[in-house]
Amino acid sequence: MAKPGAKTRTAYVCNECGADYPKWQGQCSACGAWESLSEIRLDAAPGAARSVAASRRSGWAGKVDAPKITPLKDVARNEEVRVSTGIGEFDRVLGGGLVEGAVVLIGGDPGIGKSTLLTQALASMAGVLPGIYVTGEESLGQVAGRAARLGLPLDGLQALAETCVERILEQASATQPRFIIADSIQTLWTETLTAAPGSVSQVREAAARLVRYAKETGTAVFLVGHVTKEGGIAGPRVLEHMVDAVLYFEGDSGSRFRVLRAFKNRFGAVNELGVFAMGDRGLREVPNPSAIFLSGGSTGQPGSCVMVTREGTRPLLVEVQALVDASPLSNPRRVTVGLEGNRLAMLLAVLHRHGGVLLADQDVFVNVVGGIRVQETAADLPVLLAVLSSLRDAPLPEKTVAFGEVGLSGEIRPVPNGEERLKEAATHGFKRAIVAKANAPKSGSIKGMQVIGVERLAEALEHV
Ligand code: TYD
Ligand code: MG
Repeated sequence: MAKPGAKTRTAYVCNECGADYPKWQGQCSACGAWESLSEIRLDAAPGAARSVAASRRSGWAGKVDAPKITPLKDVARNEEVRVSTGIGEFDRVLGGGLVEGAVVLIGGDPGIGKSTLLTQALASMAGVLPGIYVTGEESLGQVAGRAARLGLPLDGLQALAETCVERILEQASATQPRFIIADSIQTLWTETLTAAPGSVSQVREAAARLVRYAKETGTAVFLVGHVTKEGGIAGPRVLEHMVDAVLYFEGDSGSRFRVLRAFKNRFGAVNELGVFAMGDRGLREVPNPSAIFLSGGSTGQPGSCVMVTREGTRPLLVEVQALVDASPLSNPRRVTVGLEGNRLAMLLAVLHRHGGVLLADQDVFVNVVGGIRVQETAADLPVLLAVLSSLRDAPLPEKTVAFGEVGLSGEIRPVPNGEERLKEAATHGFKRAIVAKANAPKSGSIKGMQVIGVERLAEALEHV
């Protein structure tokens, strides 16, 4: 606990939403939660005697200089110093390597491989960039055991079993690592708060302290974050705003493939994907991921359509599967895995209205193979083609890919980087593509591939 000196003040922070108040009150006026306020001590050290709100407003800056308007051309620019993590797919998601002083939040379901990836990164950067692995969930023995199981050389790897942020930063100041891995942020707590570790206020304050340290010293920080049932990172929403990058691990438990996706990145493209396979020696990079998202066996079967998605900066072949079956329910089911559910309902309405296909008495299931999530609208056309193929129990023509957005009036709209997508499909041996007219190459064709440009949904349906 902070020394109760004469110069400490207190404030009250809501554990549910993080709002703060100068006086205790029974109900948080911001979120309406009862009995959720806990006390926070503010040390009266110079620069620290600020309210929680003021420290949030000023961001991470520890010292408050007198503000001055400066022409941007006179400002000394921060050169981004990037260091490779030694793991190519991880570098790709980070935007080309780890940036000095960057704070990266990594979320994902339990057991998906967060600790494994970070242990591997710790080892592959040893010698180049010294780091420490701060563990709040596992003992040092477990961390060492995992590293040994992964076949990593243990010398040069530093770990610390500690959950108090002040003590972690004390150790960091003494040993000056260039990056810190905090596994996980939910276990950390700061002495200035009386709330329990894991509560919203603790998570927020602990993260804020690490962010401030990162920016002041240029130390990079990886925060491991737990994920709630709803799929968000447990803790306050502000956590995602405080950090420079938010990466999520995706992948279904049955598959050994793991996808790391950038949801926010101040230093790179969002939605950038890194693909890994989990094996008995940890996570292995998959440099050519297109091949793994095609199920192999089922392409060419009724209900399957291959699409080219472009997540981040790389085109990717993905298989969309649909199953349409007579429903016993008065309210037939619409189930999606790896796609947005509401979008499917909308697409089926367009299919009825502009394609003349009624599915009101049918259950419709749509799945993206390989546990990957497709968020772009380029999936619209492939989803409808797969649905239609399943309904008619007739496979699509062989070696065919499709992509395109479907509008509410039945028009097929182009998607960005059409040519690049077509080339990726051609590289993998596809011979036909059904795409929006504007995506069909104007200058000649794609080598070895027949590109069918369509403007309306009805036209696309004629070609299958
Ligand atoms: P872990 O990195 O501990 O997950 P997280 O930190 O995200 O909770 O991963 C644990 C899972 O990975 C566990 O189910 C076992 C599996 N695993 C392997 O298959 N191979 C390995 O080499 C390792 C270390 C773990
Ligand atoms: Mg873990």
